[in-house]
Amino acid sequence: MTTLITNLGELMTQDQEHRVLRDAAVVVEGERIAWIGAASDAPAADESVDAGGRALLPGWVDSHTHLIFAGDRTAEFEARMAGETYSAGGIAVTTGATRSAGDYDLTRLAMGRVAEAASQGTTYVETKTGYGLDVEQEARSARIAAGVADEVTYLGAHLVPEGIDADDYTDLVCGPMLDAVRPFVKWADVFCERGAFSEEQSRRVLEACRDAGLGLRVHGNQLGHGPGVQLAVEFGAASVDHVNYLSGHDVDALTASWSGWDPATGSGRRGTVATCLPACDLSTRQPLAPARQLLDAGVPVALASNCNPGTSYTSSMAFCVTTAVLQMHLSVHEAVRAATYGGALALGRESGNDVDGERAVGSIAVGHRADLHLLNAPSATHLAYRPGMPLTHAVWRAGVQVR
Ligand code: NIG
Repeated sequence: MTTLITNLGELMTQDQEHRVLRDAAVVVEGERIAWIGAASDAPAADESVDAGGRALLPGWVDSHTHLIFAGDRTAEFEARMAGETYSAGGIAVTTGATRSAGDYDLTRLAMGRVAEAASQGTTYVETKTGYGLDVEQEARSARIAAGVADEVTYLGAHLVPEGIDADDYTDLVCGPMLDAVRPFVKWADVFCERGAFSEEQSRRVLEACRDAGLGLRVHGNQLGHGPGVQLAVEFGAASVDHVNYLSGHDVDALTASWSGWDPATGSGRRGTVATCLPACDLSTRQPLAPARQLLDAGVPVALASNCNPGTSYTSSMAFCVTTAVLQMHLSVHEAVRAATYGGALALGRESGNDVDGERAVGSIAVGHRADLHLLNAPSATHLAYRPGMPLTHAVWRAGVQVR
């Protein structure tokens, strides 16, 4: 079955050549992109979609969310807007609500969040455990996450539960809890921050999870300067997320981590992606992550929603892109790239295999997964030019139209 999407005003591929095509067309065959080119050269297909001059982008790749939770934290948000500062301790409120929810409700809530994101153009999503915080509950969160998201991260090291010694809890995270979640997860993460896990505890978590064969990521430098970025680079983590407070030394370490990488071909030794979470920065009134500085220093940047009930209760990647352009001084092309290709790079899914189904996501190229986002606008510039407007017109995920 082939579908021709034609009469595109703009085709922002986010491919290796960063091509933006006008008057273009795309052919989708099954779950893959089969052809890209000028609309006038398009081959015949089984069916055709007239895009009416609209812009086509890759679907958003949301590489950092926390979707497995129950309850909300409206009161905490109101207090913050009245001047309180965010602290990691709020995680305990969501842990209580999550533990109380049954499997059916927790699954239904998470599925609803994934569907809400898909309706706004998100076609590939990572999510985490981290609101269970005991062996049984973390394993349950991991199992539910594996059923609803594309990539699952183990975040048992999110907060030390009340009444447990931090080192004893770290032992649990590195031992029985890791064993229990292992069948369901591909990644591990640690919240390395004052009020959460110290450098030493974070190091132990990263070592244990690396030895268990998991890919690594780190919540780092969110609430103040700290060791998160350096640890992430030292352990070869795929991403360090938040990155609000960076020293020159931190930026240099991230830049150096990519020294073996050829951005022109996307080949070589990969470094650590800096994942910026602008909706979280605004909701917690932290300084915006220095995405402009990072890009100028040669560090690949991802933008993600960080959808969670404490610091960023939104799955709108468009909002993140808009903020990155208006407030963080990225160009529209850079912001869209960070929210598509950048997210894929942070998840190790930017390149793939056209044969066995592990297809690349986050860019539009022949053989990649047909994850497409058609805007109700002639160009991606409208995402920033018309902030807050509902600009998603149609969405295809692995070749299936989901909106
Ligand atoms: O990424 N920073 C740690 N974890 C989440 C917040 C979790 C919460 O407060 O519930 C974040 O912002």
